[in-house]
Amino acid sequence: MIDLFDDVAQSLRTARSIVVLTGAGISAESGIPTFRDALTGLWARFNAAELATLEAFAHDPELVSRWYDQRRIQVAQCRPNAGHLALAHLQQIARGRGKSFTLATQNVDRLHQAAGSTEVIELHGSLWVWRCLDCGTESEERGGAFEEYPPTCPCGGIRRPGVVWFGEMLPAAALAAAQVAAERCDRFISVGTSSLVYPAAGLIEQAIAAGASVLEVNPHATPLSDRVRWSLRGPAGELLPRLVDAAFGSPSGKNV
Ligand code: OAD
Repeated sequence: MIDLFDDVAQSLRTARSIVVLTGAGISAESGIPTFRDALTGLWARFNAAELATLEAFAHDPELVSRWYDQRRIQVAQCRPNAGHLALAHLQQIARGRGKSFTLATQNVDRLHQAAGSTEVIELHGSLWVWRCLDCGTESEERGGAFEEYPPTCPCGGIRRPGVVWFGEMLPAAALAAAQVAAERCDRFISVGTSSLVYPAAGLIEQAIAAGASVLEVNPHATPLSDRVRWSLRGPAGELLPRLVDAAFGSPSGKNV
C-alpha cells in the first residue's frame, strides 16, 4: 500500500483541481450509522420506503418527522472525526497553493462544516433544515427535539425535513455546481460511498469520463472500484489523515 500511497500523494501535490465526494462512510467513525452496511445500516433496520419518501411523509407525517428529528438530535451529539478534519485541512492547503478544491457530500449531518470545511455542496440537504410545505420557508433547527410532530410553521403549514427523499430531485444549484466541478477536475476522491445512488454517484463516472485520476477510499469494493485509478481499502478516519500528511505534511507544519 506504501507505493500506492506515494503515488496518490504525488498526484495531489501536482493536482490543478481536486473534487471530493463523500458518503455516509466518512461519518461512520463519528458514530453515525451508514445506510447499507449490513446489520448496522439504517436501511438494514428501517424500511426506506416507509421513511424516506414524500409518499411516506404524506401517509404518516408524524412518524416520518419524528424519525428525522430523532436522527437530528442524535447527530447533534456527534463530532467530526479525523477523516472530516483531514478534508478540511486538504481544502486549506489546496487553496493555499492555488488549486481549485470542491467538496460535495451526500451526507446530511453537517460534520464537514463542523470540521472546518467551507462551501460544502450538500447534494441531499441537511437534517438541520426544515421546510414549510405551505409557504416554503426554510429554517435551521439547532435546538432540542420538536414539541409536536410534524412541526408546524408560524403560517400554520406543516414542516418537512430539508433532506432529499427517494424519487425527489436534488437541489438544482448544488447538483450543477458539483457536476461542473467533476467535469473540470483532474483529481477526484470518492470517500465512504457505496456509489449506488444517482445522480451523486454519476459524479464519479463524470470525472472518470473527463479524464480525472480517481481515488476511492472505502473498506469495501463498490460497483465503480474497477473503474477508478486507485482504491485505498480502509476507514476514512485512518487513511485520509495519512494521505494528506504524505502529500503535504501534517497540520503541525512538518513539510514533506
Ligand atoms: P451507504 O450506506 O450506501 O454506503 C456507505 C459506504 O461507506 C459503504 O460503501 C461502506 O463500505 C463505506 N464505509 C463504511 N465505513 C466506512 C469508513 N469508516 N470509512 C470509509 N468508508 C466506509 O451510504 P451512501 O453511499 O452515502 O440518500 O448512500 C448514498 C445515499 O443513499 C445517501 O445519501 C442516502 C441513502 O439513501 C439520501 O438521503 C437521499
